[in-house]
Amino acid sequence: MSNNLITQDQLYRRTPKRIGLFDSGVGGLSVLRHLVSVTQSEALEFVYLGDTARCPYGNRAQGEIALFVEEIVSWLTSFQLDSIIMACNTSAAIAKDAAVKAAAQVAGVTVFDLIEPTADWLIANPPEALGVMATINTARSKAFSRAVTARGYEGKVIEIGCPKLVPLIESGRLGEAGCEAELEAALIEYLQALAGVDGLVLGCTHFPFVADRIEKLVSGKLKELYPSGLKLIDPSHALAFQMLGSDAPPAVSTVANNYQSPAFKIYTTGSASDFARSAACCLGQELGLVAQLDVAELVAAPRALAKKAARSSTAPLAHQSVSIDVTTSPSFA
Ligand code: DGL
Repeated sequence: MSNNLITQDQLYRRTPKRIGLFDSGVGGLSVLRHLVSVTQSEALEFVYLGDTARCPYGNRAQGEIALFVEEIVSWLTSFQLDSIIMACNTSAAIAKDAAVKAAAQVAGVTVFDLIEPTADWLIANPPEALGVMATINTARSKAFSRAVTARGYEGKVIEIGCPKLVPLIESGRLGEAGCEAELEAALIEYLQALAGVDGLVLGCTHFPFVADRIEKLVSGKLKELYPSGLKLIDPSHALAFQMLGSDAPPAVSTVANNYQSPAFKIYTTGSASDFARSAACCLGQELGLVAQLDVAELVAAPRALAKKAARSSTAPLAHQSVSIDVTTSPSFA
């Protein structure tokens, strides 16, 4: 039996890194997809929450988004994560502080967003003129243009809100003729407004799922608007580089991953079957199990976390040494 016992230090070294990600819906799965495809590592576990019941965030009031972010981050901290990725640029543009503040109530959780690493990448690889397709809130906040100009970028930046895209991507109808026709009309409208840029940030995490449609339009029907071509920038690649040192270039991923593995815990506040259908349309493959989370649990999470934090700050220090039987693996949640 003693051969099966490991020390706390050994346990720590065996415990996979746990990464939490959240978005208003399926968009953040584009970030998850990329992280998994560049690491393919069994040493990573992921908890994903799509707040589909309250999607879209893109044109909600800022105070409301800050509250949602506080709730979600507070809820995620119960999974003992190493990192939380704001896989929703609207949340990061409006409410990064709320995320950092909530996460700071537990030790050892780093909050990442996609805007800062993308700006770093753009400074090293500057286009002549930069376009940003985002939600209305992200475009209004000028989060991407402020981040690049603060780093010294001197080119022109056109940042536009594209509110028609998220509902179509969430609809679970991608690939159906009617949905594709609506999507194409919307993309033409937005790409006309961005004419002339040679670098385009997909500044909403939903948009990498329609990158192929954008590429087709830019090399076909709208070719004359983009004489120098158009490089699409998926911020998840810049994030992976910052987090994991992966040097895969920030193009667009399409690699298949095994989401059925127990390393993935996927939650939605909406209907689990609708989420699974939309996700499958976006990813081109099935997710594993999707769990439904009641919004009431999110709403209660900040108070629960504050109570827990208050209790642990007054609790006497316990002796930390533990022995664990490795024949039973540590549970995830
Ligand atoms: N996918 C999100 C983003 O990156 C939010 C989209 C929305 O809910 O409007 O901004």
